Parts: sequence; C-alpha cells; structure tokens
Amino acid sequence: MQPVRIGMLGFGTVGQGVATILERSAERITRRAGRPLVIQRVLVRDLARVRSVSLDGNKLTTDWRSVVNDPEVDLVVELMGGVEPTVGYVQAALEAGKPVVTANKALLAERGWEIFGSARSARQVVAFEASVAGGIPIVQAVSIGLAANQIQSISAILNGTCNYILSAMTLRGITYQTALAQAQQLGYAEADPTLDVDGTDTAHKLAVLAQLAFDATVVTSDIPRQGIDRLDIADIRCAGELGYTIKLLARAKLAPDGSIELRVAPRLVKQGTPLADVKDAYNAIRVVGDYVGDTLFYGRGAGAMPTASAVVSDIIDVVCGRANPTFETQNLWKSDRGQTRLAHPDQASSRYYLRFNIADQPGVIGQIAMILGRCGISIASIIQHDTGRDDSPDAPVSLILMTHCAQESAMSAALVEIDQLEVVRAPSVCLGVDE
Ligand code: NAP
Ligand code: HSE
Repeated sequence: MQPVRIGMLGFGTVGQGVATILERSAERITRRAGRPLVIQRVLVRDLARVRSVSLDGNKLTTDWRSVVNDPEVDLVVELMGGVEPTVGYVQAALEAGKPVVTANKALLAERGWEIFGSARSARQVVAFEASVAGGIPIVQAVSIGLAANQIQSISAILNGTCNYILSAMTLRGITYQTALAQAQQLGYAEADPTLDVDGTDTAHKLAVLAQLAFDATVVTSDIPRQGIDRLDIADIRCAGELGYTIKLLARAKLAPDGSIELRVAPRLVKQGTPLADVKDAYNAIRVVGDYVGDTLFYGRGAGAMPTASAVVSDIIDVVCGRANPTFETQNLWKSDRGQTRLAHPDQASSRYYLRFNIADQPGVIGQIAMILGRCGISIASIIQHDTGRDDSPDAPVSLILMTHCAQESAMSAALVEIDQLEVVRAPSVCLGVDE
C-alpha cells in the first residue's frame, strides 16, 4: 500500500503530538485511513532546538518551499501558527495540489477569504477541526451532525488557557501571573499569550464557528471582545459569594431581524450549571438548534494530545475521501456572500454584576441608585461589607450590585454618569450575568 506522505509546517506542541499519535497508533490509523501515514518533511524555525519527540532521518528543514513543493509530500499539515508568513505557505501548498489540515484559527478568522478561495481554485480541501475547541469535534458536529438545524445560539468556553487561569485563581487561589505561566508550560497558550488572555483567540474561534453555524462572514475585529487580563481577583471572590463563577464566554445569537449578536467577554455563570462546572483547560460549547433544541459538547480544549487527536482525525478524513464532499458543500468564506450584519452590542440585554469603589459616606448608594433608576435599571441585590473603619469615611469600599435584566445601552449610559460622581473611584466593573 502506497503511504500518504505528510509535510508538516511546525513541530512544536501540537506537531509533536501528531507525530506521537502517528507512531504510537500506526496500525489503527492505517486501518482507518486505508493507507499508512508517514511524516516526510517538517518545517521548523530552529533546527538546534531540543524536542521531546525525534523523527527518523533528516526530516527537519528551515526551508518552507522544500515542504510545500516537495513532489514526495501528498498532504500538508500546518501547525506553525500565526497569520504571516503562514498564509503564503498554506496558499502555496494548495496551489501545489496538496490538501491542507490546520489547527490555526487565527489564520482562518483573519484570512479565510484567501485560504478558502485558493482551496476552491485548486480543487483542494482545507480541514480545520483542531482550530476550535481542541479535541472536541465541534466543527463536525455543527457542520454535519446538526446540518438539519438553523442554529439559534451558541454559548461557549473556547479558550483552554483562560479557563485554566480562571479555575486556578478561583479554586486554588493562585495568582493570575502564576496561572498563566503554568498554562504556558503545559502547552495550552498561544506563542503570544496576549491573544489568549485578551479574548482574541476566543474571537477567532467564534468567527470560525459563526461561519459554520450561521453562514456568517465576519471580520474578527468587529466582534466586541473583552478578555480576562484586566479581571480583578476581587470580582472572582464576590461572584463566588453570590453563587456564581466567572468564565470567559463566547456568545452568538441569531436575532429575529437576521442579524447576529457576537460577543466575547467574561461573565458570571450560575454555579451548578454545566458551563460553570467546566474546569482547567476543558472547553464546552452549548449549541441550540431549532429542531434539536439544546446540545452540549465538552472536552479538552487545548494541549498537545487532544489537539493532535483532532488533527489526525482530519488527516484520516482527507485521506479516505470524507473531507472533500463536506468541504465542497460547506461553501465557507465565499466571496460572493458579502459580510454578515452584526447586531449592535447596545441592543443586547442581560442581568449585570456591578462593582463600584465608593467613598464610605452617607448618601452614596442613593446617588448610584438614583442614576440606575433614571436609566430604567432595576437593582436585584446589594452587598457592602462593613470594613469597621468608622474613622476613615473617605477610604474606598466595594459596593456590589446585581441588577435585573437591563438594556446594554442603558447600562453604558448609567456607568458613564456614575463614574463621574466624586464619591466613585472609576472605572467601575460591569459584567454580564448568565443564569
Ligand atoms: P508551538 O509550540 O509554538 O509550535 C510552533 C512550531 O512552528 C514550532 O515548531 C516552530 O519552530 C514552528 N514555526 C513557527 N513559526 C515558524 C516560521 N516562521 N518558520 C518556520 N517554523 C516556524 O505552537 P503549537 O502550540 O503547537 O500551536 C500550533 C498551532 O496550533 C497554532 O496555530 C495554535 O493556535 C494551534 N493550536 C494549538 C493548541 C495548543 O493547545 N497548543 C490547540 C489548538 C490549536 P521551532 O520549534 O523551531 O521554534
Ligand atoms: N491557546 C489556545 C487555548 C489553544 O488556550 O485555548 C487551543 O486553541
């Protein structure tokens, strides 16, 4: 049986995971793909770097052309990450007649038009299961398993690094910096971890999911997003006291007028609900379809082996011919489709958690409540802990409010006014609440 010869772009955390699976489970994978899979050539940046997985022979190279143009490479697996220069390498591989498997959500979200355009022109396939939610087969689920449905909404934890950090801070009392360093060491974080913690990686994944679920073509920078990098441990503690846990959530919702609400932000999630219980680098995606109703997908969202599991499954799908018909009917990032209309964030409504740093003086709560009331926002509960500092009324204390459901535009207007009060130390904290 003629083996399928794989050219890899990148041999880091995920690349080495892929090599491990191909070697360790060669017999099973050959059976499932119908042919043996062998790694032919691998692009790296630094030939001298010590790696935990070694390859036979002289397979590593720093010359990308010798991978994508090698006539002895049948399929290219892109695991180098980033947008530039990766986009050019992937397009060159497709133009050279090689199907591509990638885990690179940044590449798809930022340059999907070019990548998928090149694939269609070259009559090749791009498979990308590993790009969203690591080992969870959510791309297959949304594009094949739920194909009968119009997806109504998605609510998801899509970044393993952020979920690991939030879990470590909440459950183990570890600082943000220590938790981030651990996530990097465990191979969860992006090469530039800012992309994880500022919400960009989650927005990239949401943009890919929106393509599949809503046929929505969105520019990632248009997705309103907030990360966990400015989250205060005080809010994690206060949320816990109120019976909530804070999660970085990606949310997508089809509005009645056909526009799509997309948002990435940390939110309070009621303890005991499925998303609140997702810990460490696990991800979970709640998808609601018009016929199927509620569905929930759960698993490891980052790390070498879960991600490599999705990459190798994609390789098998491409080799045995299953990926091509799916790819052709998906029609992703089609240039004739135009850009999707996103709902304005101000139209959203939610319950809110608010934390104000206030001077501990008479009438302060009244001033805040007055502004909220004028903006049509109803208060559901209030907490202010007694600091016992009767002698220093100017020292700030935390005032925590939970509101009933309110319009985002009203909340933004109220916060602008409240943050201008002399007795409030701005900026105040405002997070959405999920029940
Ligand atoms: P990584 O550990 O940083 O590995 C990147 C690899 O690409 C390294 O081998 C590096 O070479 C090589 N590389 C990077 N830029 C290069 C360039 N310009 N020229 C030549 N080689 C280059 O990254 P990773 O964690 O495996 O992630 C790879 C991709 O999978 C990314 O798109 C990431 O978003 C995605 N992903 C990662 C995970 C995860 O849990 N890690 C999960 C899902 C998806 P050297 O080794 O010589 O430096
Ligand atoms: N850095 C990403 C995460 C890798 O932490 O989720 C998986 O896409």
